[in-house]
Amino acid sequence: MVFTPGKVILCGEHAVVYGKQALVASIGLGVRARVVKISNNFGDSKNLVKNAIKIAGGDENISVEIESELPVGSGLGSSAAVAAATIKVVREYLGKSIEKDELFKLTMECEKIAHGNASGVDPAAVVYRGLISYVKGQGIERLEVKGPIKLLLVDSGKPTESTKEMVELVAKNPEREEIVEEIGGLVGKVRRELESGGRISELLDQNGKLLESLGVVGKGARKLSDELRSLGVSVKITGAGGIRAGSGMMIVMGGDLAKMKRLLKNKHINYFETEIGGQ
Ligand code: MEV
Repeated sequence: MVFTPGKVILCGEHAVVYGKQALVASIGLGVRARVVKISNNFGDSKNLVKNAIKIAGGDENISVEIESELPVGSGLGSSAAVAAATIKVVREYLGKSIEKDELFKLTMECEKIAHGNASGVDPAAVVYRGLISYVKGQGIERLEVKGPIKLLLVDSGKPTESTKEMVELVAKNPEREEIVEEIGGLVGKVRRELESGGRISELLDQNGKLLESLGVVGKGARKLSDELRSLGVSVKITGAGGIRAGSGMMIVMGGDLAKMKRLLKNKHINYFETEIGGQ
């Protein structure tokens, strides 16, 4: 049995596709994979599992069963975690070990099949774990922060678009270059604050608003964000986003989180708490 965690992008999604730094962390929830005789139907990721088995060097005689705590397609790195866990468990089954750098490379191959122009931030987060900075083509740096950072992850609803579609949508935004530059600058500031024990919630909120300008946040999530912001918290979607239905998970930080949780409960909106930077 192999466990691989999901991830949360603190800041820099989409801009990371254009070479900017993203700050990302693994979370406590994840997926478990084991080799079985008969494969189960793991939602949309059946092909993903098959591709990962092949990429790991397995054949059609190997089936992998996945148990997941991660919502699929909601920004928490479900597909990267499924791919990485599958590759690792298949290698173990074949009696071969796999180092992190190779696991990252092979998980990236799966991501490219599933997501097209993927930056690699999701495989990096789930393979290397902890709180890291990632730059496409350059790899990771570990961030040292004082104590764990508590985040509330609020479900704005499952996107109907794939990450690939959202990345393609951003590519067509005529203001993309400018917004990507602004996000890149903000991520640098978040990193400095994190490393010096400063506050990051307002900066994350600004990143959240830039993602709205980038066109990856739908009406429902924008309405919910405005409502939450009016109560004094910072809000930012995490991951690729979505516009037709939900926009996936949103990071909510700062302000009175107890009050926030009561409000979310009353509205029957799913959320969970996670800590990053402490693993
Ligand atoms: C998806 O989790 C992150 C994106 O930046 C896409 C990518 O970097 O491959 C939206």
